[in-house]
Amino acid sequence: FANTALAGKRVVITAGPTREALDPVRYLSNHSSGKMGYALARAAVEAGARTTLVSGPVGLATPEHVERVDVISARDMLAACQERSASCDIFIACAAVADYRPAEIQDQKIKKGGEHSSLALVRNPDIVAAVAAGSPRPFTVGFAAETRDVLNYARDKLARKNLDMIVANDVAAEGLGFASDENEVTVIWREGEQALARAGKQTLARQIIQLIATHAGQPQ
Ligand code: PMT
Repeated sequence: FANTALAGKRVVITAGPTREALDPVRYLSNHSSGKMGYALARAAVEAGARTTLVSGPVGLATPEHVERVDVISARDMLAACQERSASCDIFIACAAVADYRPAEIQDQKIKKGGEHSSLALVRNPDIVAAVAAGSPRPFTVGFAAETRDVLNYARDKLARKNLDMIVANDVAAEGLGFASDENEVTVIWREGEQALARAGKQTLARQIIQLIATHAGQPQ
């Protein structure tokens, strides 16, 4: 191991997008590539953790020494996380989970109709909030992908979802956030915050893991 910050700890990390089926050939999704979550998994392994990635559909190779559980939809991801969250020490929600899914999945391909069409959607379960509401619960870390007022929205999510830490991610800036190789974030916890300068996702992942290790070790 490159360091022992998380020696003996079990870490579960969600990564990538979810896909919400509309019919046998179509789905709703987003631009998450999984790079940030996979970089966190590598950094957790380097720090000595037993690491599981609960991964949406991405085109990335599984990092060495990482257990990978593949899921498609938000509800699949919730089930995979709930199976594992009570027995892990740290849970990191880096996945870009679809907030809504089609109210119905059609059995057959939807055919073209008139000029306009609309789609009924229903809310998906909130995975990180469900994990944070568990008992016992792991040290729970969320991400907040925002395009404006990033720190305020992130602080609001930290409180509302009852998280221990949140990584505020401005995804409006060119070359940062979704699908890019670089990122720039502010890590926020109850009593403080630390801005991490623009860098490659692997470098940032190591910094985030070190901050998590410091705070997860303290009594909550
Ligand atoms: O995958 P990459 O291309 O490398 O991009 C990385 C990233 C931009 C996806 C990542 O850094 C990031 O910001 N991930 C969170 C994306 C997101 O959906 O944020 P949100 O603000 O909508 O969600 C807030 C938190 O709740 C997140 O921890 C999210 O995982 C979680 N969530 C959201 C909805 C839901 N139904 N369940 C959840 O657990």
